[in-house]
Amino acid sequence: MDMLSMREVSKSLAQDIFVRAARMEKGDFERREGVLSTLFFEASTRTKSSFLSAGLRLGLKTIDFPPERSSLSKGESFSDTIRMFDNYSDIMAIRHPREGSARLAAKIAAHPVINGGDGANEHPSQALIDLYTIKKEKKKIEGLKVALFGDLKHARAMHSLMQALALFGADMRIISPPGLEPSYGIMDRINSEFGIKLKATHTPDFSGCDVIYVVRVQEERFVDKYEAKQIKDRFRIKLADVEQAKKDVIIMHPLPKIDEITPDIDASPYAKYYAQASNAVPVRMAIMDKCLESKEGVR
Ligand code: ASP
Ligand code: CP
Repeated sequence: MDMLSMREVSKSLAQDIFVRAARMEKGDFERREGVLSTLFFEASTRTKSSFLSAGLRLGLKTIDFPPERSSLSKGESFSDTIRMFDNYSDIMAIRHPREGSARLAAKIAAHPVINGGDGANEHPSQALIDLYTIKKEKKKIEGLKVALFGDLKHARAMHSLMQALALFGADMRIISPPGLEPSYGIMDRINSEFGIKLKATHTPDFSGCDVIYVVRVQEERFVDKYEAKQIKDRFRIKLADVEQAKKDVIIMHPLPKIDEITPDIDASPYAKYYAQASNAVPVRMAIMDKCLESKEGVR
């Protein structure tokens, strides 16, 4: 089993992963044998390190691939690089700036591939961490009012999360700076698949919200960096904005956060992004446990 897109994760698979993740948190699991490789062709703090930590806790050995010190510098192709790591490992976590790269890797590799972010496309393991966190904090997902705030055009974490929230019946409010809406392709697809009516808005209105999910302006995906900077300076969430929402609202963020959230929010009871980041380890343990289950010979 690969994990390439949230569109390929059913509700029952997601629920299975949440049950496993809760067991991982309690230490109630069987260790696995095998080797995890992390191939990150783009910067990462959390995703790569939490996959490595999750792999080690699950009992796997790990190999990290540093692209800048590899034979890519001699001109070796992505495909050949994946073929080599398919020889060396039982499971791979991949991040790459190009959309579709994880799917290409999965076509080449016989072993499971997990998409740790492919360009502006998807980040499915992040969406599962996000849902697990919401479930833990709010005891449910269905019917919650969730505001999605920030650069929804380029943020792959948001694209996977929109699909995941629709799957679990949350009520989404889409708020972005003008021009940074999710593409109509994504919204139209979700609207027709789930029979809902997502629409883009540009005013930070959090009234009645249970969850506010914020993402930074993805500056590295802008052709014009000056445009990104101007947007960043105008679109920022303050404690007073949060106070329009329900009293027990939670604020989430996939991190890294730069300056889209004012620092006073960090110390408030609403901020759950550090708890969200710590859920990455049990959820990624659960994802790898599930992916490896379908492979004969491992355990
Ligand atoms: N860390 C997340 C990602 O790689 C979100 C972000 O970078 O803003 O997609
Ligand atoms: N949330 C996330 O993907 O963080 P990194 O970019 O640091 O991996």
